[in-house]
Amino acid sequence: MADHNYDYDVLVIGAGPGGYVAAIRAAQLGLRTACADSRATLGGTCLNVGCIPSKALLHASELYEEAAGGALAKLGVRIDKMSLDLATMQGQRIDAVKGLTGGIEFLFKKNKVDWLKGHATFRDAHSAEVAGKVVTAKNIVVATGSSVTPLPGVEVDNAKGLIVDSTGALELDKVPGHLVVIGGGVIGLELGSVWRRLGAKVTVVEFLDQLLPGMDGDVRKEAAKIFKKQGLELKLSTKVTKAAVKGRKVTLSLEPAAGGAAETLTADCVLVAIGRQPNTSGLGLDRIGLELNARGQIEPDHRFRTKVDGVWAVGDVIPGPMLAHKAEDEGIAVAENIAGLHGIVNHAVIPSVVYTMPEFAGVGLTEEQAREKGEIKVGKFPMLANSRAKTNHEPDGFVKVIADARTDRVLGVWCIASVAGTMIAQAAQAMEFGATSEDIAYTCHAHPTHSEAMKEAAMAVLGKPIHM
Ligand code: FAD
Ligand code: NAI
Repeated sequence: MADHNYDYDVLVIGAGPGGYVAAIRAAQLGLRTACADSRATLGGTCLNVGCIPSKALLHASELYEEAAGGALAKLGVRIDKMSLDLATMQGQRIDAVKGLTGGIEFLFKKNKVDWLKGHATFRDAHSAEVAGKVVTAKNIVVATGSSVTPLPGVEVDNAKGLIVDSTGALELDKVPGHLVVIGGGVIGLELGSVWRRLGAKVTVVEFLDQLLPGMDGDVRKEAAKIFKKQGLELKLSTKVTKAAVKGRKVTLSLEPAAGGAAETLTADCVLVAIGRQPNTSGLGLDRIGLELNARGQIEPDHRFRTKVDGVWAVGDVIPGPMLAHKAEDEGIAVAENIAGLHGIVNHAVIPSVVYTMPEFAGVGLTEEQAREKGEIKVGKFPMLANSRAKTNHEPDGFVKVIADARTDRVLGVWCIASVAGTMIAQAAQAMEFGATSEDIAYTCHAHPTHSEAMKEAAMAVLGKPIHM
């Protein structure tokens, strides 16, 4: 298999979930592999400034709110003289990142993946320059990920802590009095929730008329209700036109999305979270003649091969949801394809989860998408009627199962529940196996669990839930 005309069989550019997983899998398959990354630590956006640190703060702030907001006291857990120790909370975030990025370093050593430290630039389709050194490889996998989309007129400066992106919002050393979040998507709601729980007033300014684009319509409507109930102020159908910084305050100019009278909003901190864009600049793609699509993405085929022989691409830099698990699965598949196996990712079954409380999760088609494709049946079951959720005082949410009216095959599942992110895994597996709603309905689910709501929603597709 090894071709000694090259330094490596595989060079992966980028050590995020797409890149590091591709590198490990390639090495497991006996390929001589290197992985280059410009960061000081492995793990990419996800482990360093994304999934992991955000979940560390979401978890800790959730416990804080349970204690401070009286939810624990209602259960008989009285905590006298409690207070927020933000430095310790931030310390455990840093520890979580350190532990997991160090874990990837260990896995690289274990699997004999060479870690090349530095920015990589293509010289030709089989070589790249990394930190002044030329490395050749038979196959090069581009896994360079994505970065924050800038908003013209609202310039991010994480060091000042006044107008920040997600990285800056994770690192705040004090709770802002008023945090304005621009963008009611995943980052805005997760990080907005963190700082609201810790005491900030949070306003979310969203261009569209609903939060969480891409999710099922019912879920989006319910999300607005739930976040409002939790105290987030929502300014939907609104755009930010500019920001002016004066001292330690930021004044934002807002306008209705459709045009109209302007207003201003003053904040102690502004989080810009309007999406992310693929990292392709400075990569030397012009040198290998690799063109980008209209959205600035590299567009490989279903085997993750680009139009340039020997060059492959996975993760946030290619089309599809910008999610760590999607990048990881593509990383495994690309390595298997390079090794001559048949690596496949079923892009129709990629779950997405918003890790707020409750969590919002879905897989497959939304009800709106499914209706456009044909006749469907929908079963819905409220968490209020689920014994475990009710006992745990978690009344918000529902499970919704969407099935083809003719074949009963499950087309999509949407879920709002405290543990929706965990519950959605069974829906993804069922869909991967081509399950019908009846298959889920007749699967025995342990009692009392939140997952029973999935069974009941599936039973509701055929019109016969028990507990409703
Ligand atoms: P990345 O993780 O972005 O990694 C790419 C790496 O390549 C980076 O380290 C970059 O520095 C490096 N690089 C780029 N160009 C070069 C170059 N030329 N040379 C060398 N190195 C280069 N997803 C989830 O599924 N669940 C979550 O809970 C979640 N939470 C998130 C929270 C936040 C705040 C953010 C910002 C994102 C979150 N995401 C989450 C998204 C997730 O982080 C990304 O989908 C995932 O990291 C993409 O993986 P990737 O390997 O494609 O790219
Ligand atoms: P997003 O695409 O989820 O949300 C951006 C929001 O900003 C959208 O609702 C959009 O309508 C709005 N918007 C765009 N321009 C605007 C403007 N000018 N003014 C006001 N609103 C505007 O992007 P986000 O939240 O930045 O996250 C980026 C990516 O990171 C997502 O694609 C997501 O997949 C990933 N991510 C995933 C997480 C998870 O899986 N739990 C957590 C955090 C991020």
